[in-house]
Amino acid sequence: MSSRAAVPNEQIESALQWRYATKKYDATRKISPTDWNTLKQSLVHAPSSYGLQPLRYLVIETPDLRAKLREVSWGQTIITDASKLVVILSKEKVNETDVEHYIERIATVRKIPKESLAGYRDMMVQNVAKGMTPEISADWTRRQAYIALGFLIETAALLKIDATPIEGFDPAAYNKLLGLEGSGWRTAVIATLGYRHADDATQSYKKVRFEHSELIETR
Ligand SMILES: Cc1cc2nc3c(=O)[nH]c(=O)nc-3n(C[C@H](O)[C@H](O)[C@H](O)COP(=O)(O)O)c2cc1C
Repeated sequence: MSSRAAVPNEQIESALQWRYATKKYDATRKISPTDWNTLKQSLVHAPSSYGLQPLRYLVIETPDLRAKLREVSWGQTIITDASKLVVILSKEKVNETDVEHYIERIATVRKIPKESLAGYRDMMVQNVAKGMTPEISADWTRRQAYIALGFLIETAALLKIDATPIEGFDPAAYNKLLGLEGSGWRTAVIATLGYRHADDATQSYKKVRFEHSELIETR
């Protein structure tokens, strides 16, 4: 273990081996409030460009809504059977109001005058609010959703909680069912979390990854 590690290296590596994209959940097992709190922290603490956090997280609990979402998620049973379903939303267009909201938050949290952040605000307005077309902005925020997704999946693995990153769904149908149309937010990617079913054959499959030498090059 390296001397400054918060979690021993072996534990991290074993969690990475242990995790897999779960295909069948044990619907009777629920994530405890304590673990759920840590998982939420992983979403909240995910980094974002400039720290603007152009993401929101919808946690879908209502069984009826879950069933409807499953219909537009290739019928995947994980949508209804997992303990948690998290829909990661990304902002369609980051605007000056978003920048202002963030500047106010920095001033409050760090107890500094807003005026001292004028340069930072102007830069963000220039580069992000004014400098991006709606298409570029939507693509930029959507990519950031995947950072939050990664944090969530890794944190789940460290807690020995199963998870599935999911792109197998119809985003337009999600936006409709979740009432997002016209809200400025859209569904970027989703994830389920819970506990693997004993019958999920996938858990015994050997992990398929290319050799380190093929994936990682040092120059
Ligand atoms: C962005 C993304 C979308 C995915 N979508 C689905 C999905 O819709 N359904 C599913 O069962 N697995 C999905 N997966 C899981 C991958 O198939 C899986 O991560 C990959 O085969 C590697 O296997 P492992 O995660 O078990 O190591 C997705 C993974 C990622 C990263």
